[in-house]
Amino acid sequence: MRKKIIAGNWKMNKTFSDAENFLITLDEELSERYLQRVEVIVCTPYPYLELAFDQADSGKFFVGAQDISSHDFGAYTGEVSAPMLHSMGADYCIIGHSERRKYHQETDEMINQKLKQLLENEIKPILCIGETITERENGITKKIIKNQLEGCCKGIELDERITIAYEPIWAIGTGKTATPQQAQEIHAFIRDWIAQNSSTRIAEDIAILYGGSMKPKNTAELLQQKDIDGGLIGGASLKIEIFVEMIDIAITSQK
Ligand code: PGA
Repeated sequence: MRKKIIAGNWKMNKTFSDAENFLITLDEELSERYLQRVEVIVCTPYPYLELAFDQADSGKFFVGAQDISSHDFGAYTGEVSAPMLHSMGADYCIIGHSERRKYHQETDEMINQKLKQLLENEIKPILCIGETITERENGITKKIIKNQLEGCCKGIELDERITIAYEPIWAIGTGKTATPQQAQEIHAFIRDWIAQNSSTRIAEDIAILYGGSMKPKNTAELLQQKDIDGGLIGGASLKIEIFVEMIDIAITSQK
């Protein structure tokens, strides 16, 4: 059975001391019993990764970055590479987030390079995909998702190290959440695509997270859906008490 995953994406938020307080409290709040039932991941900005690794030493949660360069080393000012993250001990890294696609013109081709970099460097990718509101209204959501999967995963042998996050762009940071049925339909479509492009076993092993205005109020219903294995949580992951509440809900809403 797939374990539930609750992943926080802090985006560009928190000062160093805010980050420190959050991580210390998270470590105190999580007990061993959580570990068997839910995997907790915190994706911090780069400058706080070292701090997060230290706090995560107790093994109660995992740490991820929010992006990675498509290159390994060299003259790329301001970039951070997968070998660097690996040398620090990163567990996960988000790639293809819609904010990277929108503000940094990232294409599926670039995300494909990043995916390869992460797999080569033993960091688990959290690959984000999702449609815009216009694409949904035009009835082409599945076509867009299929194109993104094909582009981002080109030439890659799929396996359970990869986590996919379905994040409808119209639901990110807007307060509008996809209904559990809308999300489930796309999650099932993604799982089918994986099965067709690898095997049923791998499709059953790969975790597919939902992201987009997930909060305590809608967590249980989303997580009860057959193909929703957890959440990639932005805004609601910034307050420790809300984040812990969502972890608790994930534990109690096991299918
Ligand atoms: P949100 O962000 O929960 O604030 O909508 C989710 C994400 O962008 O990963």
